Amino acid sequence: MIKMAIMGFGTIGSGVFDVVKKNADILEKNIGEPLEIKYVLDIREFPGQPVQEVLVHDVNTILEDPEVSVVVETMGGVEPAFTFVSGALAAGKSVATSNKELVAQKGVELQQIAREHNVSFLFEASVGGGIPILRPLLTCLTADRIESITGILNGTTNYILTKMDREGWEFADALAQAQAKGYAERKPEADIEGYDACRKIAILASIVLGQKVDYHDVYTEGISKISVTDFTYAHSLGCEIKLLGDFRMVDGRAFVCVAPFLVKAENPLYAVSGVFNGILVHGNMVDDVMFYGRGAGKDATASAVMGDVVEALQNPGKTVYPGWKGESCPLAPQGEAERAFLIRVPEQESQKAQEVFAGARPVKAKIPGEAGFLTEVMSEAAFEEAAAQVTVLSRIRVFEA
Ligand code: HSE
Repeated sequence: MIKMAIMGFGTIGSGVFDVVKKNADILEKNIGEPLEIKYVLDIREFPGQPVQEVLVHDVNTILEDPEVSVVVETMGGVEPAFTFVSGALAAGKSVATSNKELVAQKGVELQQIAREHNVSFLFEASVGGGIPILRPLLTCLTADRIESITGILNGTTNYILTKMDREGWEFADALAQAQAKGYAERKPEADIEGYDACRKIAILASIVLGQKVDYHDVYTEGISKISVTDFTYAHSLGCEIKLLGDFRMVDGRAFVCVAPFLVKAENPLYAVSGVFNGILVHGNMVDDVMFYGRGAGKDATASAVMGDVVEALQNPGKTVYPGWKGESCPLAPQGEAERAFLIRVPEQESQKAQEVFAGARPVKAKIPGEAGFLTEVMSEAAFEEAAAQVTVLSRIRVFEA
């Protein structure tokens, strides 16, 4: 009998609890022994619920119990998660987490502790919810030079953008629904302002580069300025608006950013809607590979967490993934990224906009009092310089694979 513990009985933690009960037979088959949840750590009480029987409030109960060989961390946030996870690893217990903030901020330290104690620190669920993406990058695609990864990495914002686009919902209503469905982070800004997607693309880039990509270095813009009018322009160009996390190597330099982009119909990410995530990986040999699935939500994320638990248990005494180098990888400046932009200006500045954005072509969206243009491909720095000369109602980058 293998004993495990869960730290944090929120949406994902309770999902993990359910998977262990519901899929006990399949887990036993794949681990080779029955798996039992010995403890669930939470500050709350859950009277009348099955979890109450195994509920503990002191982390040391878990850390000091030699019977517990694997721990799931689903608390979220950096502290006390970091202290608890490092304590578990140092006590010789493998850890599986869904906590992208913890991985992006403290991954290097936790990977080192795991190596020192011959246990595993695994975090498949921290990127793309239930979608297998980290393990494929580390195993199946390991012979490839990964040239780019572009992802719809946040289910909440994709849900909001889809509802605004298709149902004409107000932003606030769509956010409330996403929260009610358990997709959203505790602080809505983490989703809306792109911070969650930023941590996820930083983790993906760190895996590919084998070196830490500091999420503080990643240019990040969220969706809070996107309006229904922007969708009208997007449609007239045959595009959707998606919040993308993008990593790409250009002439040996790594560009990483998170921002809303116009995505053309021929791109597979165009069709990724609702809470679903899509991650498009381009390898120099395999070409394009697309990963698609539920990027948020209780069951899907719990499935990914338990995949890590099984892998850790199948590899006792071993660190399954040794981790990336701790020195931060220098990223190319965002101003040097090259792309076209959709820009909207007041009607009276239409001529001026055409002068400052030489070669821009008008976009017909029939919105009274304003004009839209699609610029030539230009550097972000050159765009900012030109945009400073007109009144910008909105501007959205155009994605080119
Ligand atoms: N808030 C996140 C999302 C949860 O919406 O994608 C999964 O990381």
